[in-house]
Amino acid sequence: MKNKQMKDALEEQAAFIDGYLDKYLAKKDNPQSVIYEAMRYSVFAGGKRLRPILMMNACKICGGDVNEVIPFACAMEMIHTYSLIHDDLPAMDNDDLRRGMPTSHIKFGEATAVLAGDALLNKAFEVVSEYSGDDTRRVMKAINMLAVSSGAEGMIGGQIVDMESEGREITLDMLRYLHLNKTGAIIRSACAIGALIGGGSDEQIKAVDEFAKNLGIAFQIQDDILDVTGDESELGKPVGSDAEEKKNTYVGLLGLDKSKELAEEYSDKAKEALALFGDKAEFLIELTDYLTTRRS
Ligand code: IPE
Ligand code: IPE
Ligand code: MG
Ligand code: MG
Ligand code: MG
Repeated sequence: MKNKQMKDALEEQAAFIDGYLDKYLAKKDNPQSVIYEAMRYSVFAGGKRLRPILMMNACKICGGDVNEVIPFACAMEMIHTYSLIHDDLPAMDNDDLRRGMPTSHIKFGEATAVLAGDALLNKAFEVVSEYSGDDTRRVMKAINMLAVSSGAEGMIGGQIVDMESEGREITLDMLRYLHLNKTGAIIRSACAIGALIGGGSDEQIKAVDEFAKNLGIAFQIQDDILDVTGDESELGKPVGSDAEEKKNTYVGLLGLDKSKELAEEYSDKAKEALALFGDKAEFLIELTDYLTTRRS
C-alpha cells in the first residue's frame, strides 16, 4: 500500500468514527452548554483517531464485525482526548497548541478545560455501559480493561511518573515503563478490546496485545523524535516542548539515531507478533510501518 493509499484509508476510517462521536457528543441547549462546546472543540479539533482505528482492525482480524466495537472505539477516543486536554494544562506540559488549534485552557480557560476532560472521561463510561452487545461477559471485561488501562495502573500511572521525573534523569528501564504506561496502556487496551469484542480466541487476543505493547512504545519514541525534528504546522502541537519541560525522552537519553533504531526495533517486534494472522494482518502491519515514519 502506498503512503497516499494508507492516508486515504485512515481518513476514511476516522470519518466513520467521527460520525458516531458526533452523535454521542451532541450539543445540549441547557445552562451547561459550554461544557459540550468544550468537549466537542477538542474532540473535533482533528486527531488521527489512531486508537479507534486500531480497535476496529484488531476486531476485524479476529473475524469480528467492526460495528460491534463502535461504542468502545468512541469511548477510547474520548478518554484519549481528555488525557490530552489535561496533559496540555499549565500544571502539566503547559502547551498552547493541540491538533492545530489553541489548547482547551487557552480557548476556554483552565476551569472549563479541567471539566471538559472530566466530562469526556465520564461520557466514555456512560457510552460503554449503555451498550449491551451479544456477549455480556466480554463486554464487562472490555469495560474493565478500559478503566484499568486509563487509570493509575495505566495511562495515569505513566503520566504521574512522567511528571515526577521532570528535571531529573531516570534510567532507560524507567523510561520504558513510563512510555509503556502513559501511551502504551490505552493503545494496548484499544487493540485487546477490539480482539475481545471481535470474538478472538485467547491466543489471538494475546498476539494482538503483544503487537500493541510494542507498537505503543514505538509510537511514543516517534512522538519524542517529532518533538525534536517535527514541524509545528504539520504536527499541530508545539515542537521543543519536552526540552522546555525538562522531560525524560528517548531522544534526550539516547540521541536521535539510537531512538530511531529503537523505534524500528519495537515496530518489528510489533509486526512479528501478528504472524499467526497471516494475510489478514496486512493492514495493521502497513499501519505500523506508516506510524514509524509519520510526521504528525
Ligand atoms: C498524542 O497522541 C499523545 C501521545 C500519546 C503520544 P496522538 O499522536 O495519537 O494524537 P492525536 O490523537 O492524533 O491528536
Ligand atoms: C502524553 O505524552 C501522553 C498522554 C496524554 C497520556 P506527551 O506529553 O508526550 O504527548 P504530547 O506530545 O503532548 O502529545
Ligand atoms: Mg505529557
Ligand atoms: Mg504533552
Ligand atoms: Mg510528546
